[in-house]
Amino acid sequence: MTVKTAVLPVAGLGTRFLPASKAIPKEMITVVDKPVIQYVVDEAVRAGIKQIVLVNHSAKRAIEDHFDVHYELENELERRGKEELLKVMRSILPPDVRVISVRQGKALGLGHAVMCAREVVGDAPFAVMLPDVLVDAELQPAGSEPDLAAMVQRYQASQRAQIMVEQVPMDKVSQYGVVALEGDAPAAGTSQVMTGVVEKPAQADAPSDLAVVGRYILPARIFELLADTAPGAGNEIQLTDAIASLMKEESVEAYRMQGVTYDCGSKIGYLQATLAYAKRHPQVGAEFAELLRQYND
Ligand code: G1P
Repeated sequence: MTVKTAVLPVAGLGTRFLPASKAIPKEMITVVDKPVIQYVVDEAVRAGIKQIVLVNHSAKRAIEDHFDVHYELENELERRGKEELLKVMRSILPPDVRVISVRQGKALGLGHAVMCAREVVGDAPFAVMLPDVLVDAELQPAGSEPDLAAMVQRYQASQRAQIMVEQVPMDKVSQYGVVALEGDAPAAGTSQVMTGVVEKPAQADAPSDLAVVGRYILPARIFELLADTAPGAGNEIQLTDAIASLMKEESVEAYRMQGVTYDCGSKIGYLQATLAYAKRHPQVGAEFAELLRQYND
């Protein structure tokens, strides 16, 4: 079975981004001229995903609206002959990709959020993409497959769950799920069998400096395991714990990413993303680079 569905847990309240995220979902905050969530959906589409499942909260309807047709606006743009803008509006989502929304009424953890998508996903393997994390494929080696697409291909070939990891400084490991591996760390763009995974370990207990960074390809079996997963770190139902259970039944692999991540749930990560994307934006990139030079002087 091919990977056609991506689950995006977007119900989180975004406390790290207050006050900006009080009335606007943090996923709707713009990086240059697109909301963060659109970059994540674009990444999914590039990997061949055809169905996006938003696991949403009642206060964050703007995310659903962004991917819906805005008939009045399109009509008005058409009437005024604004062809370019119309094109932009209509390219937010390719016509063969659909967005489905389910609700996570209570914030019981990432594992619980993923479980909320169970009925929509069904029996097929699927991707989980954490919307705070932007994966910048432009910074991958020239000609390489974007990371998520590479993970899908690796899953298809091996039938083993793929967990994207990135090397992080040891003093940051306690913010992440951290993996233990069979043998040496894999080269960027390749996968290695995992022997363990632990959610937010103390630095002294961390099995490595390879952190789980928000992209997963998982079999549907994970739903059954999640249903049996007791609350873990932070008293939340952790996806990491269900992955540890899956590892007792079958091989799970860590995929070492090639691109660069920006943690857009944090203010500094958001600023970093803004710099990276603004510098190469087709319309404002050159002027922005000039601005940066002026500020540096
Ligand atoms: C979640 C996961 C964690 C992962 C992290 C990546 O944690 O539980 O394993 O490393 O995302 O961003 P959160 O950041 O939601 O606390």
